[in-house]
This record gives sequence, C-alpha cells and structure tokens, in this order.
Amino acid sequence: MASTLIKDAFLATSKDRGRYDIFLQNGKILAIGLGVGAHHADEVIPAKGLTLLPGVLDTHVHFREPGGTHKESLESGSKAAAAGGVTTFFDMPNTSPSTTTLETMAAKKALAAQSSFVNYGFFMGATSDNLEVLNTVPQVAGIKIYVGSSTGSLLVSGPEALDQIFANGDRLIAVHSEDEAMIQENQSRLGDQASVYDHGLIRSPEAALKATQQLIRLAKKYQRRLHIVHVTTAEEVAYLRDHKIPGLITAEACPHHLFLNTPTVYDQFGTLAKVNPPIRDGKHAEALWQGLLDGTLDFVASDHAPHTLDEKNQSYLKAPSGMPGVQTLLPLLLNQVASNKCSLKQVVDWACTQPASAYGVKNKGAIQLGYDADLVLVDLKKTQSVTRAQSYSKSEWSCFEGCKLQGWPVMTFVNGVKVCEHGVICADEPVGRPVVFEDRTQPCHTPHPEEAKL
Ligand code: DOR
Ligand code: ZN
Repeated sequence: MASTLIKDAFLATSKDRGRYDIFLQNGKILAIGLGVGAHHADEVIPAKGLTLLPGVLDTHVHFREPGGTHKESLESGSKAAAAGGVTTFFDMPNTSPSTTTLETMAAKKALAAQSSFVNYGFFMGATSDNLEVLNTVPQVAGIKIYVGSSTGSLLVSGPEALDQIFANGDRLIAVHSEDEAMIQENQSRLGDQASVYDHGLIRSPEAALKATQQLIRLAKKYQRRLHIVHVTTAEEVAYLRDHKIPGLITAEACPHHLFLNTPTVYDQFGTLAKVNPPIRDGKHAEALWQGLLDGTLDFVASDHAPHTLDEKNQSYLKAPSGMPGVQTLLPLLLNQVASNKCSLKQVVDWACTQPASAYGVKNKGAIQLGYDADLVLVDLKKTQSVTRAQSYSKSEWSCFEGCKLQGWPVMTFVNGVKVCEHGVICADEPVGRPVVFEDRTQPCHTPHPEEAKL
C-alpha cells in the first residue's frame, strides 16, 4: 500500500505551534516528528502553513440508502463527508426498509463496503418488538430510538416498550428526544392552518424537556448508557447540567440549532428550515453554545438529513423535516475559531475526540501513533462562501448557502488515502471501511449467515 508523508504541518492537537512531519503507511499513522519517513514516502505533501486535524467523526447522518437514493446514497453522502473533512459517519436506521433486523443491517454494511468513500458505522433502529436483535447484532454504533416521530415510521413511544429496552442489554442507546403525545396534542390544537412559524410550538421546548427528563430517569434507573441526539432547548441544557452522569449520559448539538435562529430562518428559508426538533430562537442557541463550552453537551454532529428541493418546497404540513449538513459541519466550526468564539482544540474535542470516545471507536479521533490515518488538512486562513456548486450531496441546497466562512478543508485522508483535495474527490474508488467498536458491550463480529451471502 502506498505511503504518504505530510510535511511541515501544524498539528491541531499539539501544545506547541511547531511544525511536524507525519508519515502514513498501510492506512495507519506510522511516525510523527521532524524528518521522519523522508526516504520511504511514495508521495510527499507539502503542508507549510496548513493545520492537520484528526478526521471528523460525524456520528449522526441520514444517507437514505436503501430506499431513498433520489435524496442521497452512501456514495454521494460519503463524498460530501470527505469534501467536508469528515472521515467517518454513523448512519441512522430510518431508511426504507428501516434498519431493524440482522438482515437489513447486514445489507447496509454490504452496500457501504461497495460504495463508501469514508469509514462508516450504523445504528440499529428500535421497534416495540425487536428487543433481542438490538442486543445481539454485532458491531453497531448503538440502538436508535425515536420517542417522537420524525421522517420514516420508527417510533417507540409507549412507556412499557421504552422501559423494556432500557432494562435489557447494555449497549449504547441514542434517542431522538421529543414527547410524542405532547406533539400530537399541540398539532391538533393548532390544526391544519399551522404554518412553519408554528413548528416550534407544535414540537415545543416542553415536549423536548419532558422526553429528556424521562430518558435520564430511565438511564439512571437501569444504569444504561444513554446518548441524547440534537439537544435544542435551554431547559434541556440546564437539566443535563444538573443531572448528567459522566460516562453514563452524553448529549450532542447540531450546527443548524447552534448557528440558525427563528424567526429569521423561516423568513429566509421557509419550509427548507423545517427540522425535527425545530430550530429555536437565539436564547436557546446561546444556551447550546454555553453547554458545549462548559462540557454539558459533549460533541457536535450534523444530523445531515437531505430531501429534494421539490419535497421541501411543499406546504408546511407536507414538507418533510431535515436539512443537509455533513459537508458544512467542519467549516462552520472552523469559522467560530476564526471569530474567536472557541479554540481549535475545542473544535477537535467536539468533532473528533469526544464522538470517538462516546461511541467506543477504536483507533480514531486523535493524531496518534498506530491510529488510523484518517486526517484532514485545513487552511485556517482560507475564506470562501458556501455554494451549491461545492456540494457532493444530492440535495445541493443549504440553509448556509452564501455564508462566508474562514477555515476550510484542503485535503482529506481516509485510511491513508487522499480522498479529497480542494473540495474535489480524487480517490477513484471507495476506500471506506467499517469502524471497529471496542466497547465491551459489543459482541465480536462473527458474520451472520445472511451477511455471508451478500
Ligand atoms: O429533521 C429531521 N429529519 N429530524 C429527524 O429526526 C429525521 C430527519 C430525517 O431523516 O429526515
Ligand atoms: Zn437525525
């Protein structure tokens, strides 16, 4: 396998601001220092003035394959990831069919092996009657529960079913936390005349808080590893700050909730900005930032949820929820560094180190000897606007279109292979591999007979 020397790069993870050479071989980081690997490299990448980060792990995307490939595919989504400096994604189970059985999980892994340009992991979707397989399916990111309905048909809202899942097994449970009964009640009160400006009233802060409180109670009762995806309210942040147990409960924030505010986002983008849970006003966004800065929220993920423009441009009640974001996640965070709102170390923590640690991912999330050579070289000085032309996602539109950002990926390496350069995919074949989860709760991987057939 070819070897690469990245020469004279600043390391985002080193305390000094010195320059380093990083030697990559056989998909691993083999040496870090000055003058290392100089005589062995097949390719030398001059990186003076550029900064090297661990590749981003975006642990919350919806790449729509199988069943929704007119919106996205594992190939298009993974190319968008690579172009945005994301070297690993975890895909959600609300595809069609949903990923709720051994067979559908095996089929997804087989599809990714053939078509993903970055590394991958998958969530197993919980239903009210697939408890056994939730705990026996090998090597998954975790169990995903929707306690509030969203795109697709996955929903576990009854208290007994939820209790059963928390009570049995010990692998990580990631939850979409909105109280379904409260959503339904608000929906019927507001009726058919509701507009997108009512989205945050229907999916209210109270509905989010109630579900989050219930989930935290369950996690504590059963000492079960819980991750709350896309937290949106100041009230949830305050509750988590007081009740979160380190090592047991983690929580994430998404860029659209951190960077966009109502009502202006609806004035500008209408139903394009309809997402679940909803974008809220500046007070909530401010609390999410505080939560990230003080460690109440552990990391960021994009919740990349593409739909076509035609689908999104329907009336409020018909338009599906979700927006793309995997390609803009890192540039938006780097721009915060340029604006002195956070440090580069915090960006690495939120986008690389913490997600790898929260999910027990082996050998990723840091620039370390022996770790996988998943890296992103960024230019912290480069200023560029978000455009449709850059997008590798099938949904080229973005609520960040036109935003001028400082700090962009220049090259993305996946398993030591240069996959993207200056926003253009340059790998001629998919090089992604399955992530290895080393959590003790993961059964070791013996291929299921259905998997072996694929
Ligand atoms: O806005 C959303 N879109 N929230 C979700 O929970 C699902 C996602 C999707 O898959 O479209
Ligand atoms: Zn999602």
